[in-house]
Amino acid sequence: MKPTPPPRTYRVKSFGCQMNVYDGERMAELLGQQGIQPASEGEEADLVVLNTCHIREKAAEKVYSDIGRLRREDGTAPLIAVAGCVAQAEGEEIMARAPAVSMVVGPQAYHRLPGMIAEAVEGRRSVDTDMPAETKFDALPARRKVGPSAFLTVQEGCDKFCTYCVVPYTRGAEISRPFNDLIEEAKKLVDAGAREITLLGQNVNAWRDEAGHGLEKLVEELASIDALARIRYTTSHPNDMTEGLIAAHRDIDKLMPFLHLPVQAGNDRVLKAMNRSHSADSYLRVLDKVRAARPDIALSGDFIVGFPGETDAEFKDTLRLVELVGYAQCFSFKYSPRPGTPAATMADQVAVGVMDERLQRLQAALNASQLAFNRASVGKRCQVLVERRGKYDGQWLGKSPWLQSVHFSGDAAIGDLVEVDLVEAGGNSLAGRLAGASPRPDLTDRGVRVAQ
Ligand code: 5AD
Ligand code: SF4
Repeated sequence: MKPTPPPRTYRVKSFGCQMNVYDGERMAELLGQQGIQPASEGEEADLVVLNTCHIREKAAEKVYSDIGRLRREDGTAPLIAVAGCVAQAEGEEIMARAPAVSMVVGPQAYHRLPGMIAEAVEGRRSVDTDMPAETKFDALPARRKVGPSAFLTVQEGCDKFCTYCVVPYTRGAEISRPFNDLIEEAKKLVDAGAREITLLGQNVNAWRDEAGHGLEKLVEELASIDALARIRYTTSHPNDMTEGLIAAHRDIDKLMPFLHLPVQAGNDRVLKAMNRSHSADSYLRVLDKVRAARPDIALSGDFIVGFPGETDAEFKDTLRLVELVGYAQCFSFKYSPRPGTPAATMADQVAVGVMDERLQRLQAALNASQLAFNRASVGKRCQVLVERRGKYDGQWLGKSPWLQSVHFSGDAAIGDLVEVDLVEAGGNSLAGRLAGASPRPDLTDRGVRVAQ
């Protein structure tokens, strides 16, 4: 590669999960600290970071077409860094397959981007997929400006080894960030404008502090930050839903009544083949306990259809479970064989046509469940955290405590928590009517500016 002038502008494109969104924000902050500015809308950036996802096939293939699209008409291209889980999984292979790429950096190594950029400027390509002992978090600049709803990664990696999943390989073993670091980062997020924090982790409820306390301890401490109004967490594993965390849903008002608890399938033979280490029944028992602690909790989950060997009768157990739970919202996917995972080489891979048909049936059931949940919310009065302007003049969009999108019109500003009556339900959102704004906490003495 030829030497190039140091980049003046960057663009970070994140794909996949919320943890990637968080990493993307942190990379942007790091580039900003290096004096590289975000490219403005429509402007070509000197440096493009593709922050990739490897969880399913399409996501990985997309990276290569995205790289191709970055080529300019005159044959040149910006400096390209491939980050995220595809970078971790494919490493050198990306270098071989995509000569336009000058940096490949894994999710645990992106704090080293500045050094890699310096090398790229001199015409050298580099790959860093280390999982170093020193943590990237210590090397990243402090959080400065965020929206009203912010992410905070508290835990990374997974030790569960579900047989279909690449995460234990791309994100490595479970690690929990230290309690004090998290409280400090949360306070910075609040000072930077956050009123809601979503704690993130591949297995967020496996988070433990140095003394072995669970996530509820972190939630409790965060709840004592005055200007922080809401706390959420995602994604959880059924086996890590401890009594303490369940009790937090009863005892801590700021912990929102929403739980994303993937089950993946409703049939025990399939769950065993997936190495989920819970049964449909034990999952339902966890939900019973959570509902007893917080009766209005909204439930969410992930599903995979067409896992190798899944029969039509076994798939029907998934539909039955959906019926029993009454989910508020869900994600559902066709099984995608991931190289290197045990399921990829299992016998009886299910035909794509069969998967398509099952996904359609499942999604119809999940959509109906979501609509029923939304309809049952009509008539409730709740707080909505205003996140952005709506399509129409004077319209605002925000989230209910149950993570539903709510739109309403009237006097509000981004970052406000307003009382809203829910008056009409659609499948994906609700219409609300302003019932009167709750007084905003005096943020000025905390140095907080609520973004307009
Ligand atoms: N194929 C399809 N879906 C998958 N997921 C994880 N691995 C695969 C795969 N190989 C889904 C699971 C998980 C979500 C993040 O992605 O449902 O909970
Ligand atoms: Fe993947 Fe299973 Fe770990 Fe979730 S719990 S990240 S599905 S291996």
